[in-house]
Amino acid sequence: MQRRAAAMPRRCNAMLGRKPLTIAGRRLNHTYREHQIGNFMTQPIPRDPDTLRSARWFAPDDLRSFGHRSRLKGMGLDDVDYQGRPVVAILNTWSDLNTCHSHFRNRADEVRRGILQSGGFPVEVPVMSLGEMLMKPTTMLYRNLLAMEVEEVLRCHPIDAAVLMGGCDKTVPAMLMGAISADIPSIFMPAGPMLKARWRDVTLGSGSDAWKYWDQRMAGNLCDRDWNGIENCIGRSAGTCMTMGTASTMACVTEALGFTLRGAATIPAVVAEHSRLAVQSGRCAVEMAWQQRKPSSFLDAHSIDNGLITSLAIGGSTNAIVHLIAIAGRLGIDLSLERFDELSRTTPVIGDIRPGGRYLMEDFHDAGGLPALLSRLGDLLTLDSQSVTGETMAERIHGAEVINDEVIRTRENPVAQAGGTCLLKGNLAPSGCVIKSVAADPKLLTHCGPAVVFDDYPSMKAGINDPDLDVTADSVLILRSAGPLGAPGFPEWGMLPIPQKLLKAGVKDMVRLSDARMSGTSYGTCVLHIAPESAAGGPLALVRSGDMISIDVPNRTIHWDVSDQEIAERRAAMPPLKPVPERGYAKLYAKHVSQADQGCDFDFLVGRSPGDEPSIF
Ligand code: FES
Repeated sequence: MQRRAAAMPRRCNAMLGRKPLTIAGRRLNHTYREHQIGNFMTQPIPRDPDTLRSARWFAPDDLRSFGHRSRLKGMGLDDVDYQGRPVVAILNTWSDLNTCHSHFRNRADEVRRGILQSGGFPVEVPVMSLGEMLMKPTTMLYRNLLAMEVEEVLRCHPIDAAVLMGGCDKTVPAMLMGAISADIPSIFMPAGPMLKARWRDVTLGSGSDAWKYWDQRMAGNLCDRDWNGIENCIGRSAGTCMTMGTASTMACVTEALGFTLRGAATIPAVVAEHSRLAVQSGRCAVEMAWQQRKPSSFLDAHSIDNGLITSLAIGGSTNAIVHLIAIAGRLGIDLSLERFDELSRTTPVIGDIRPGGRYLMEDFHDAGGLPALLSRLGDLLTLDSQSVTGETMAERIHGAEVINDEVIRTRENPVAQAGGTCLLKGNLAPSGCVIKSVAADPKLLTHCGPAVVFDDYPSMKAGINDPDLDVTADSVLILRSAGPLGAPGFPEWGMLPIPQKLLKAGVKDMVRLSDARMSGTSYGTCVLHIAPESAAGGPLALVRSGDMISIDVPNRTIHWDVSDQEIAERRAAMPPLKPVPERGYAKLYAKHVSQADQGCDFDFLVGRSPGDEPSIF
């Protein structure tokens, strides 16, 4: 590559010295993650600016590069600001409409500080924000769109590394999927959970307690004043849901994959430690650029197993299954539901965290966080799996201490010996379905009852509290048209409400089946992700109220007690499937999204990317 003589200042090399950080000869104090960051910064690594991807944009002595440089100068930047330095993108999912990421404006500045400290050139790049609370019909409809945006934004710009700022549910898998496919050095910086909520003398958990107290209200046990009081208290700070919902589950899974700094997943969003995490993540990204530490260099099938085991051990959200299948797919790994169930049979649930347990994310962090929990799983994990820092899983859990055995239980005293989430199969779900058994009433894990079928969400909402609804506590509530194609977008409708007349009679749980997902903060005996879904012609489309349905979670079966001949007759009389939308993203989605057991990624995005670089002419 022909290079301008003065274009490559080496000053940043001195700034990035190999020694531990010191001030006046005194080694700086760090957090408990220090040992890894310290080691990582002392590794001798080549720092040849020619190896930077961004050099293709900025270094050549040609007209196109003249244009790139001159326009940056028009922004007030000098050669020394960006030449010869890793360009590190801060992919920020901040938005006024994403309540969980409201602190990300400040955090982006802190990431920027870390990048500058390590001699990088920070550039903040906004990407689509998927805020779980306000986006309809469901953020899951747009997970793959954000994944595509992340992949293409990374690919088409002069970016050497990226800090991925996400947290609210789908932002996590989407950003990982995009970064894996772009295969550009990337570190994930989780938003962190909200602080614990308090109402009167009660500790509230987001999501979970909203459902619980809504049921109380429906049963006539909670007045308007108390309901309003809960509304005022349950969202106590910026950050993601502070139960072990999908956001916290995916943050923990991401840390177990090696995609974050050690201990990052549980740090509450608004504490000073979270700001330090942001700065450290920025520093790490610069080093990753120099070391060319791409996702493909530290992620493999063992990492995925570590993520799965972690999700099971923390009693994590069922959504993690769908997301991990999609993430694995981007690595060219065909992850099956059977693998998930296999690991489920041998992984104890030792995180005693709501909704499956008693505590909240802040308690989990104070108890030692994920490294402490993983240290108790030691032999179940692949210990030589790598991470963004180059450290192995063994190094990341070494020395981690459990501070509170009530929150992070011992393997001898687990929340559940195994099977936190289970795969069921049978004639109603030939491709499988899942149940979070740790959040279900144990008495209902083996159950047989008559179906009460709702064709879609509006009819369920209109009919569930009808006093004349033919339903008892033994009934099996069924919702269809709620899968990836049906809703569309695979919304979190799977925790069907218990009919008001049963709530008033004291019923607290029932067996519920659907082709929907369920929020990670939800609970109950809810069988989810039935595949194939009804809108794809799955058997769920043919069930009628009164049909007998049985589930047997210990034996992993689900059975619909209707003869094959009857099924064939119903199928012959079935109306045509819903047509594909005519235009726009809805058309792309409907034509290409896969079913739940295949991760709901688009078929044309699965598999390793060939790693094509854009032409620069
Ligand atoms: Fe954003 Fe729960 S709503 S994490």
